[in-house]
Amino acid sequence: MSAGFRVALASVAAARTLDEDLPELLSALGTAGIAAQVCDWDDPAVDWSTFECVLLRSTWDYTQRLAEFLAWCERVTAMTRLLNPLELVRWNCDKHYLRDLAERGVPIVETCFIESGEAADAFPDYAEFVVKPAVSAGSRDTRRHVRAARAEAIAHVQHLLDQGRSVIVQPYIDAVDSAGETALVYFDGAFSHAIRKGPLLQRASGATELLFATEQIDPRTPTQAEHDVAQRVLKALSFPVPLYARIDLLPTPDGPRLLELELIEPSLFFDHAEGSAARLVSQLIQRL
Ligand SMILES: Nc1ncnc2c1ncn2[C@@H]1O[C@H](COP(=O)(O)OP(=O)(O)O)[C@@H](O)[C@H]1O
Ligand SMILES: [Mg+2]
Repeated sequence: MSAGFRVALASVAAARTLDEDLPELLSALGTAGIAAQVCDWDDPAVDWSTFECVLLRSTWDYTQRLAEFLAWCERVTAMTRLLNPLELVRWNCDKHYLRDLAERGVPIVETCFIESGEAADAFPDYAEFVVKPAVSAGSRDTRRHVRAARAEAIAHVQHLLDQGRSVIVQPYIDAVDSAGETALVYFDGAFSHAIRKGPLLQRASGATELLFATEQIDPRTPTQAEHDVAQRVLKALSFPVPLYARIDLLPTPDGPRLLELELIEPSLFFDHAEGSAARLVSQLIQRL
């Protein structure tokens, strides 16, 4: 029975109007008889202990306030149930998790890590490549570079290293320009729906600043190969099955490869898949 349950949807002031999943989720929770309230994670006036569950929804500034955010997750965990749970958040907030998954046999986009203290040019001579911080979301500080402008890319890496951040360099997977990125959404380990996301990074020309394309989202039916890779990702997790997971894949000549696994505050694209918010809510109820 769900009656009487109170669920907090954790967001942040700057994200509330941007989170397109909130209306559908609130409506599906209401239909299930669950009282839900959208709360800013950093609002000191919220008493999290009054909720049966705190569902991470759009805490989209956490990458810039990571220590503060993880400390908040710890506090909430001591008071009530955090979903996804703290140990998943801790592991998933840093893209070093890609290395763990690769070690467990998951095909990931070729990824080179550069740690603080290492040389900023310690990455392969790719024709075209992407530089991003290991702790990142929303394409922030993520740039696409070409070989001819390698010096500029190295300066970008150095800039991130100087901020004390670990850096990722990947070859630019150019099939994204035509085929796009595929995001598969799973609730409690069961496939719910998928979308296609158009390419986000424009090519840099010379020293020009990059532009960012607006996200172009469409429903997509994943290929069998994409389903298979997503299953391998879920099987490779060393945690209990997460309530929600979004698995972002890029198409490569060797088949689909994992770009990102989102277990913290992913956009779930409810409005592109009828009934999907209700599916999440029914799995949530199982856990309450
Ligand atoms: N190696 C890559 N090849 C092609 N496009 C990439 C690559 N890495 C990132 N991108 C583009 O940048 C976007 C953001 O990168 P992503 O790794 O998903 O980080 P986040 O979403 O956490 O910022 C992706 O959606 C994709 O469009
Ligand atoms: Mg992404």
